[in-house]
Amino acid sequence: MTRTTSAVLLALALALCWMTAGAAPTPATANTNTNDDATAESATSYDACANPIVLVTGLGGCVLDFLLTDEYKHLHYECSLVFSRNKWSSGLVRLWPAIEAVDAIPPYHLRACWEDMMAVHYNETTGRFANTPGVQVRPRDYGGVTGVDNLFDIESNWGPGMSAVYEKLIKQLKVTPGYEVGKNIRGAPFDFRLVADDIELASMFTDLKNLIEETYNMTRACSAGPRRVHVMTHSLGGSYWLYFLNTFVDRAWKDQYIRFTLAVSSPWQGAGKAYRTLISGDDEGLPGGNIMFLPVEQLMGGLLWMIPFSNFFGTKTFIQYADTGASFSSNASDVARLFDSMPGTLRPLVPFIISKIVEPRSLTVAAPETDIYCIHGSGVVTESFYVYQSANQTNTNPAEYREDAVINGTTYLAPNPALLFPLDKSSPFYVDPNQGDGTVELPSLQYCRNWIGKNGGKQMVEVDVAGQEHLGILSSAAFLNDVMPLILAP
Ligand SMILES: *[C@@H]1O[C@H](CO)[C@@H](O)[C@H](O)[C@H]1NC(C)=O
Ligand SMILES: *[C@@H]1O[C@H](CO)[C@@H](O)[C@H](O)[C@H]1NC(C)=O
Ligand SMILES: *[C@@H]1O[C@H](CO)[C@@H](O)[C@H](O)[C@H]1NC(C)=O
Ligand SMILES: *[C@@H]1O[C@H](CO)[C@@H](O)[C@H](O)[C@H]1NC(C)=O
Ligand SMILES: *[C@@H]1O[C@H](CO)[C@@H](O)[C@H](O)[C@H]1NC(C)=O
Repeated sequence: MTRTTSAVLLALALALCWMTAGAAPTPATANTNTNDDATAESATSYDACANPIVLVTGLGGCVLDFLLTDEYKHLHYECSLVFSRNKWSSGLVRLWPAIEAVDAIPPYHLRACWEDMMAVHYNETTGRFANTPGVQVRPRDYGGVTGVDNLFDIESNWGPGMSAVYEKLIKQLKVTPGYEVGKNIRGAPFDFRLVADDIELASMFTDLKNLIEETYNMTRACSAGPRRVHVMTHSLGGSYWLYFLNTFVDRAWKDQYIRFTLAVSSPWQGAGKAYRTLISGDDEGLPGGNIMFLPVEQLMGGLLWMIPFSNFFGTKTFIQYADTGASFSSNASDVARLFDSMPGTLRPLVPFIISKIVEPRSLTVAAPETDIYCIHGSGVVTESFYVYQSANQTNTNPAEYREDAVINGTTYLAPNPALLFPLDKSSPFYVDPNQGDGTVELPSLQYCRNWIGKNGGKQMVEVDVAGQEHLGILSSAAFLNDVMPLILAP
């Protein structure tokens, strides 16, 4: 923790520098890093009359590349031998998901360096979030698909939770007459680390708006007139897109440019899992154990945004201390009380940020006013309520946050504080009686039902792909069978 603390302090001290050296999202129009391999595989050529689709990713759902400027100070000499300066990473070298995130791989220190490059810092005075000084981050291949299809470019199960994203859908579109990557199959990944920062978010939204307009403009060559754009989102991407629709564009823009919103696995009202992750981490499908990822997750914008919205969940208990019986909902006062009972440098910060970001954004959740298919899995055991040992405030070792399981009313203590739940995802803690998709509880996934008949005259159709899991749904035959006809509808 000492290293993280000093990194935070260093970052705060250098805040002025990051205003200019922060992440520079790739403009939609300067599509310079498109990987042509994907295009080459296309079996068909562009037809301006085919309905274009833009694919928006979720939390951790795209490849992030990095560049280290001369300003960057390597934490360890060994790392300077591995990560070169002033050159955007590419191929298997990436910031996310990265092999360096796993500490078992030599040389030693690689993980610490990765954590330093991946970290997000917050300046309480300016209310801005930023990268570690000297680190620039951008999503790979904006407007193309190499950053959104399969995060490892290999059909292996290494990092099983995080590998295939839109891969199956893209493969199917590529062999569909009229479709071509970069023209009417387009990725719109975003830096999910910085979405809590309003200025960064506005810049991402500007790129997204341009990408959609540019994609639409290409279809002006269609003799029957231009084709409106489908926007498919996954998970956090649904909240991101809804926020865009609710706050960034007007009705006339939506009517002109958007055909269907195809929102998959959207946590419309947040997810208990995000709350748990801010307390004791989540491995996001990478090996290593949940707690190992906590330092890079506690200020991750996408996670902060997904804390269950308390104006929807009310006083539902999400966290309970096994020994004292104290319980906590996700409202700002309970989050403050919870973090106040824990040691750690971010103690006062996280609740402050949540009250500044989650609460205001949760009030903007409104009907999209585009035709929407609200697509989600169901019937999968979903975590929903967590039991911890209360923190001993004199103990600053985060590994002491033992995440214990409550199964059918019985509390199971985590056997080894270093091995946190859920290592075995088949036997999680307390599950939502309504279940969900394995990550998000059903009431949040189904919140879109509230828009039926109240969507500004547009349709809202719920598609329940029973038995499908949060991310796996995108690769399922049932999902592809449901969405392909929607995408191709005349
Ligand atoms: C935050 O940003 C302001 C303005 O850029 C700067 O003056 C200050 O030193 C930064 N750090 C802290 C801890 O506020
Ligand atoms: C799309 O075309 C319209 C009309 O020609 C133009 O005003 C707009 O700037 C174009 N947008 C992009 C992103 O190319
Ligand atoms: C927050 O939730 C708790 C229940 O855990 C409740 O007692 C409290 O009144 C709520 N606070 C606010 C501000 O809604
Ligand atoms: C906290 O831990 C310290 C050191 O292990 C111990 O001396 C102290 O009694 C503990 N306090 C509580 C309230 O459990
Ligand atoms: C939960 O406990 C009850 C009562 O002991 C038992 O009847 C039920 O089968 C248990 N359910 C599960 C899923 O283990």
